[in-house]
Order: sequence, then structure tokens, then C-alpha cells
Amino acid sequence: MARRKQIYEGKAKIIFEGPEPGTVIQYFKDDATAFNNQKKAVLEGKGVLNNRISEFVMVGLERIGVPTHFMKRLNMREQLVRHVEIVPLEVVVRNVAAGSLCKRLGLENGTVLPRSIIEFYYKDDKLGDPLVSEEHITAFNWANPQEIDDMMALALRTNDFLSGMFAAVGIKLIDFKIEFGRQYEGEMMRLIVADEISPDSCRLWDMETNDIMDKDRFRQDLGNVTDAYREVARRLGVLRENESAGQSGPVLVSDNGE
Ligand code: TMP
Ligand code: ASP
Repeated sequence: MARRKQIYEGKAKIIFEGPEPGTVIQYFKDDATAFNNQKKAVLEGKGVLNNRISEFVMVGLERIGVPTHFMKRLNMREQLVRHVEIVPLEVVVRNVAAGSLCKRLGLENGTVLPRSIIEFYYKDDKLGDPLVSEEHITAFNWANPQEIDDMMALALRTNDFLSGMFAAVGIKLIDFKIEFGRQYEGEMMRLIVADEISPDSCRLWDMETNDIMDKDRFRQDLGNVTDAYREVARRLGVLRENESAGQSGPVLVSDNGE
């Protein structure tokens, strides 16, 4: 097969040129990084699981009217997505205190927050993705006030959708990160959810045991990282019920192409 042109390589994904203008192919790697690339590993099967979980989430978001970049899954590791200009912000929504919020404000891990909190981080690996305010965002032109309002509204709708979706399968959504892209159609521009939504970018705790089912297993050296991702996929119905143990990697329901 002819080599496709690579447009960008990130820590967990590669972006290739798409088959038509306005499209790109998003390839999910098995690479995992944490603490801004200081900790690295290859977690066999992670990319396959995140491809499927992110597809499931994005299709669900589209159904409730939240626009996303997702068009079609192509195979085990790739999806066709809309070409966007990524807004250089990571938008984090928190329902329960964990991670950097606990460190920053001295809160106890697991404290239920009085309401969902939205935070913005400036995407810059050299700076370690610093927390920024709306003042920084508008002053430096990373997004305009209307775009900030739109991102906040879409992030909260995504939070409601994800919280319900995970609660239905016995998982608490502690927090998550999303990214937005600008999609240009002639004179028109709209903001859509881009990147991925997966256990790499969410904190997910088992409703009953509080067991960690996300990338914190990797960050904190808890082990069984892909087993946890596989369990998330299984509960969402992305993996066949009888494949939960997953001896030889994930087995997928109705895969097309491979
Ligand atoms: P934090 O508590 O470390 O700020 O993370 C908040 C949420 O954002 C958590 O669900 C993990 C996710 N996240 C990413 O997806 N990428 C990142 O680079 C970081 C720091 C966090
Ligand atoms: N994604 C970031 C990194 O690769 C940080 C993290 O998710 O913890 O370093």
C-alpha cells in the first residue's frame, strides 16, 4: 500500500492526509505518556481500545447534537475525521476533585465538587500545558469570547452526556479533557469536538469499589492498564460480553475492514 502523507505525530496519535479535502485519518498508537512525556511506555492494544471507545462516545455526542470531528471508523486503529484547526486549549471539566486540582487547592481526592468546574490549559508541551484564564485566552487570541462561551456550553453538554453514559454502566466520571477544532465551510466556521475521548483523557472510577479504570493506572504505576480500558469498553458494549478476560488482546464486535 502506498505510504500516506503524515501531517502530524502526537504522543498517542498520528494524523495522516485523508482521502478527500477536509478529511484526515487519525491513527491510535499504543504509546502512553504521562507527566509531559517524562514517563513513557507501549501498552499493547491501547490504541485499538481507544479507537473504539472514542468512536462510541463521539457517535453518541453527535446523536444529542454535539458536533464532533468523527466521520467513520476505518479499521482497528484508524478513523476518518474532519480536518480542523485545533484550538490550542485543553478544556477540562471536573465533577469530583482529583489530580492537579487536589494539588493546586489542597482538596482531598474524591471530594464531590459543589458544581462542575471548567478549566482551560494552554496546549504547549514546552511549558507543560499551564492553566490559563479567559483573560489570557482572549489577550493572546487563542480563542475569542464567543468561542469561549461555545466551548464551555459544549463541554458541559458533553459532561452531562458522558456522566449519564458511564453511570449507566457503573462508572463515575470524575473529570475529563476535551479539545475543540475550528471547521471551515466556505465563509462559515464552527467549533466541533476533536481529538479523542477515551480512558486516556478521562478519570473513571468504578461506582462501587472506586477502582481506577483510566490512565491514572499508568501515571501511578497501578498496573493492568489495558485490562482496565478493556473493562470500560466491555461495559459500554464495545467488546463482546464473553471476551472480558481478554487473554490475547481485545476482540471487537462487528469490525469492518480487518
Ligand atoms: P489533571 O487533574 O492532571 O489536570 O487532569 C484533568 C483531566 O484531564 C484528567 O481526566 C486527565 C486529563 N488530562 C489529559 O487528558 N491530558 C493531559 O495532558 C492532562 C494533564 C490531563
Ligand atoms: N498527556 C500528558 C503527557 O503525555 C500528560 C498526562 O496525560 O498525564 O505527558
